[in-house]
Amino acid sequence: MSGERRTQDPGRADRLPPIAFIGGGNMASAMIKSLAALPLPPQMTVSEPDPGKRASFTALGLTATADNCQATASARIVCLAIKPQMSAQVVPELGAAWAADKVLVSILAGMSTATLATWLPAGARVVRAMPNTPLAIGKGMVGLCRGKHASDADLALAEALFAPCARVLRVSDEARMDAVTAVSGSGPAYFFRFAEALVDAAVQLGFTRDEAILLVGQTGAGSWDYLLASGFEAKRLREQVTSPGGTTAAALQVLEEQDFSGIISRALAAAQRRGQELGRG
Ligand SMILES: NC(=O)c1ccc[n+]([C@@H]2O[C@H](COP(=O)([O-])OP(=O)(O)OC[C@H]3O[C@@H](n4cnc5c(N)ncnc54)[C@H](OP(=O)(O)O)[C@@H]3O)[C@@H](O)[C@H]2O)c1
Repeated sequence: MSGERRTQDPGRADRLPPIAFIGGGNMASAMIKSLAALPLPPQMTVSEPDPGKRASFTALGLTATADNCQATASARIVCLAIKPQMSAQVVPELGAAWAADKVLVSILAGMSTATLATWLPAGARVVRAMPNTPLAIGKGMVGLCRGKHASDADLALAEALFAPCARVLRVSDEARMDAVTAVSGSGPAYFFRFAEALVDAAVQLGFTRDEAILLVGQTGAGSWDYLLASGFEAKRLREQVTSPGGTTAAALQVLEEQDFSGIISRALAAAQRRGQELGRG
């Protein structure tokens, strides 16, 4: 049904075809920085209404414009990185500069490939991506699916676009993108919420806020790296540190009494449901 691909090696010699970013906000900027750092950076154009942001892209050696059509005309990959509510106004404008060899890679939350395609000339190739914010430090997670007219080669191009800043999971059924959103799109907020609760609880135990952030931050980062390095399931590592009758067992019992797994499961289901509702408009 779907599978993670080890995407293009960022150090690989192939140069990506010219890319236009429509919208030069937070997500686009993070992608641009990672692409600009490639050994063979692609030609990139950014279309962005804010002159200050345009100047920062020009300083990086990119072409910056306020003309979405001009940017689209210059590229083979057109990465749509505006807010979803702008799409009905912006995407139809791109049609004037559209050509059959272009692929639209949209990172807009909740916006289907079918809706995007209706605003472009018939047969337009659209790939939908759901990234998350750790992309800003090159550690993003991106779900990808293709629209009706997009090819495997288009998906591969989209994977290569994200490879320098994220890992990629291909999803063959677009309806599953709401589940991707629930798990990895919204996922950073779950980790941040858990960290927030741990820091607050550590302060209640008498630590200063800075001490609590150090204790929690290093424990979180170390535990996650340890989990990945060990190659084990989280359950096994959790059991290793949980002696019967010990301190960890006492803490985990409180979580289990509150149906910890059930809470997380209901939270993700709520996120998926909300994604479906937003997608219906
Ligand atoms: N942030 C996340 O966690 C996340 C995760 C997954 C997906 N996404 C999706 O990523 C997209 C971008 O998010 P973001 O956080 O990067 O938003 P953002 O920082 O607000 O970026 C959007 C950019 O588009 C520009 N823009 C506005 N009108 C435009 C127009 N007519 N033509 C071209 N550009 C225009 C905005 O410029 P001004 O600021 O000057 O208006 C802004 O720089 C959203 O659709 C969101 O759903 C975000």
